[in-house]
Amino acid sequence: MAKQTGKKIIIGNWKMNPASPKAAEKLFAEVAKSASGIKKTEIVICPPFIYLERLKKLSKKINLGAQNVFGREVGPFTGEVSADMIYNIGARYVILGHSERRTLGESDSDVNKKIKAALSAGLLPILCVGEETRDEDHQYFNVVKEQIRACLYGVPKNLISKIIVAYEPVWAISTTLGRKDATSTDCREMAVFIRKVLSDIASLDIAKDVHIIYGGSVNERDAEEFLKDGGAEGLLVGRASLDAKKFSEIVKICEALNS
Ligand code: PGA
Repeated sequence: MAKQTGKKIIIGNWKMNPASPKAAEKLFAEVAKSASGIKKTEIVICPPFIYLERLKKLSKKINLGAQNVFGREVGPFTGEVSADMIYNIGARYVILGHSERRTLGESDSDVNKKIKAALSAGLLPILCVGEETRDEDHQYFNVVKEQIRACLYGVPKNLISKIIVAYEPVWAISTTLGRKDATSTDCREMAVFIRKVLSDIASLDIAKDVHIIYGGSVNERDAEEFLKDGGAEGLLVGRASLDAKKFSEIVKICEALNS
């Protein structure tokens, strides 16, 4: 959606935060307030499921996304939430395949089912891919390629352009023990590679329409570097999205680059 309008996209992944609806509303309202003049950047907040409906009422400008959905439409699946439910309360995006969910046992095949369910409900999937470590033989490119191929298996080609691919090297995510900073060069190389993989799966034209974004400890100090030199068409922000000031700063940096 954002790609068609030429907008870059900044997505906040709140993960399992904050602890109360009141705190969620406060954080969201602060982000919404400072977004009032933003025109060329798509802003998406992905809070826990339970806050989506109340946050939807607070702002028309900020898009909402979920952090997961179940891969089946309806039925006896205790504790699960379907893509239709998410769509019907007004959210339009969903993060899928996040490394923290993969650690809990989610496989590429699970992610594949979820992508198909999300697309058929009208949600735009934010597909997270990324290697756990980097090796000297550059096998990490294959890791990412296999994730993309398996997660997109059987997805109709005409729907692939609706997917946002978030490159999130696990070794750069803020909660990874002994984490390291990724550079804009790491990001740029992988963005080019991901585009090629998508082009081989679908076509060059379709691949060009896919938003490729970066995530992994992005903050207000390095956001510009990833957007400008890293070839990222947006950012998936975790920890810094829990600080309205920092997140809004990142949005403003993106907006200034788009202008
Ligand atoms: P981080 O999280 O910015 O805290 O590293 C990003 C993510 O896990 O999506």
